[in-house]
Amino acid sequence: MIIVLLGPPGAGKGTQGERLAARLDVPKVATGDVLRAAVRDGTPLGLEAKAAMDRGDLVPDAVIMGIMREALASPTAANGAILDGVVRTTPQAQGLTDALAALGRKVDAVLLFEIDEDELVRRLSGRTTCDVCQRPFFGREPGETCSEGGQTGTLVRRKDDEPDAIRKRMQVYRDQTAPVIDWYASHGANMVRVDALGSLEDVEQRVLTALGIA
Ligand code: AP5
Ligand code: ZN
Repeated sequence: MIIVLLGPPGAGKGTQGERLAARLDVPKVATGDVLRAAVRDGTPLGLEAKAAMDRGDLVPDAVIMGIMREALASPTAANGAILDGVVRTTPQAQGLTDALAALGRKVDAVLLFEIDEDELVRRLSGRTTCDVCQRPFFGREPGETCSEGGQTGTLVRRKDDEPDAIRKRMQVYRDQTAPVIDWYASHGANMVRVDALGSLEDVEQRVLTALGIA
């Protein structure tokens, strides 16, 4: 199954995507994670993306398309993938459709996480992220360690979780990513809406129910 996760920053795409990927035994592909790892490692991709990411702006579509095509071509994605934050503009939605069609595949479902902005700000302001496995945490402090990814990482605050960058990301979502919802609707996608407010377990259950898995 190819599942696209859509929703505003902080809605829980990363958190629920991780759970869904484990459940379906397919990889989670998150462009944000790929880009942050590139920034951390100082690669050419990271150097190109860093300034836009720190501000809360999008990186260029062409950069994302390269990451997307590489991930889809990987043997680990042969049985499907959870695409977290991979589609944020209508050209990216078209690009993903074309890239999948070239492989004889298609998007099976678009999961849209819905939640109000106050809760997003609360979650993002309280988030720390593992600098190695990129898992997000809430209520844990910078400097604590994480060993969930198999290697030991350190929890850090993302630069784009500063108040100015959070505001910018919300604006970018409204202006550039919300139109993707209409794009998928007008292209006949199987779009399912999920209320993203509630405990991790409640939201997970809604995701599984929406997909007809449980
Ligand atoms: P990215 O990393 O994708 O950031 P995002 O979309 O802003 O999403 P977040 O990671 O902030 O939120 P999330 O929905 O995953 O929530 P999470 O699970 O962490 O992208 C970063 C940047 O990369 C972009 O700004 C852009 O510059 C660039 N980029 C990436 N993809 C791109 C693309 N396709 N095109 C162009 N540029 C791109 O949860 C948030 C917090 O809430 C966590 O602390 C979590 O523990 C907590 N939480 C989660 N669920 C719950 C719950 N049910 N109850 C209470 N707390 C919860
Ligand atoms: Zn970790």
